Parts: sequence; C-alpha cells; structure tokens
Amino acid sequence: MPTVNTSMQGKICMVTGANSGIGKATALALAQMGATVVMVCRDRARGEQARSEITTKSKNNAVDLLQADLSSQQSIRQLVEHFQHHYTHLHVLINNAGAAFPGRRESVDGLEMTFAVNYLAPFLLTHLLLALVHTKQATSSWITCNQRIPMDP
Ligand SMILES: NC(=O)c1ccc[n+]([C@@H]2O[C@H](COP(=O)([O-])OP(=O)(O)OC[C@H]3O[C@@H](n4cnc5c(N)ncnc54)[C@H](OP(=O)(O)O)[C@@H]3O)[C@@H](O)[C@H]2O)c1
Repeated sequence: MPTVNTSMQGKICMVTGANSGIGKATALALAQMGATVVMVCRDRARGEQARSEITTKSKNNAVDLLQADLSSQQSIRQLVEHFQHHYTHLHVLINNAGAAFPGRRESVDGLEMTFAVNYLAPFLLTHLLLALVHTKQATSSWITCNQRIPMDP
C-alpha cells in the first residue's frame, strides 16, 4: 500500500503557469505532499480544469486558483493584492510561467514580450512577495525556472 508523503503539510506554495506542463505537474506533486497550493493561471477556465484535476488526483482540497496575466505589471500587482488578502504567509514561490514569442511583440506596458513575461514578471512578483515575507518573517524558498530566453541576436 503506497504511503502518503505529507512533508509539505502546512506549507503555502505558489506556482505560476500551473494549468499545464511543468507547472501543473509541480502543483500536483506539491498537493500530493500535503501543501496548500496557489495556482496562478492566465485563463480562468483552463485554470479551473487543472485545479479540479489536481484536487481529484491528490485528494487535497487546499488548491486555490488566482488569475493573472503575467505580461501585465498591473495584473501582477493585483495578483499580489489578492494573495495578501487571503494568505498571511508564503513558503515557496515557483516562477514557472513562461512563453516563447516568434517575432517582436509588445506587452500592455510597451515592453518586449519575452523580456516582460520571462524576466521582468518573475522579478516583480518575487520582489512584491518578498516584501510580504519580510513582514511576516517566514522562511521561504524561491525557484525561477523559466529560462527560455532566446540567445540569438
Ligand atoms: N519544456 C521545456 O523543454 C523547457 C525548456 C526550457 C525552459 N522551459 C520553461 O519552463 C517553464 C514551463 O515550461 P512548459 O514546457 O511546462 O511550458 P507550457 O506547458 O507552455 O506552460 C507554460 C505555462 O506558463 C503560462 N503562461 C505563459 N504566459 C503567461 C502569462 N503571460 N501569464 C500567465 N501565465 C502565462 C501558460 O499559460 P497558458 O496555458 O495560458 O498559455 C502555461 O500555464 C516555462 O517558463 C518554459 O519557458 C521549458
């Protein structure tokens, strides 16, 4: 009989881009380990579908969904406000969301999209959440794994 790994019990973990791929697998694994998981997704319907799958597979109902488009700095700030409204601590932040953009595109803030989503978004999110962590004096882990930044000129 498999044993349930509860080593993340009591930990609050935020995973960006949690509705697919590596982010979804990470959110599921954390939920299976007993963590409270805050999924950050850009599309509410796809996020809800993934959240429902994760709660069913993990048998952990402590899986929350916050909607944010990380290409928008206003959306990132709203995400942090919503998070702070509902949670007093954050123990783990996984900056997973990222995308590749063929050709030049600009964000609503007038920034090149790859730079905005893959670099500035994790920087701003981490910066805003660090302020919360320092206030609450919690020990935390921060992981940024969206290093798909094109190196071609
Ligand atoms: N797989 C690889 O071989 C590989 C290699 C190097 C780096 N990476 C990096 O690892 C991370 C995960 O990769 P993956 O293969 O799991 O990719 P994926 O399946 O495409 O997942 C990326 C996630 O990021 C989300 N996302 C993209 N832009 C967003 C935005 N503006 N706001 C909010 N969420 C946004 C996507 O949401 P939507 O579903 O709404 O688009 C999706 O949930 C990415 O950052 C990727 O660049 C992956």
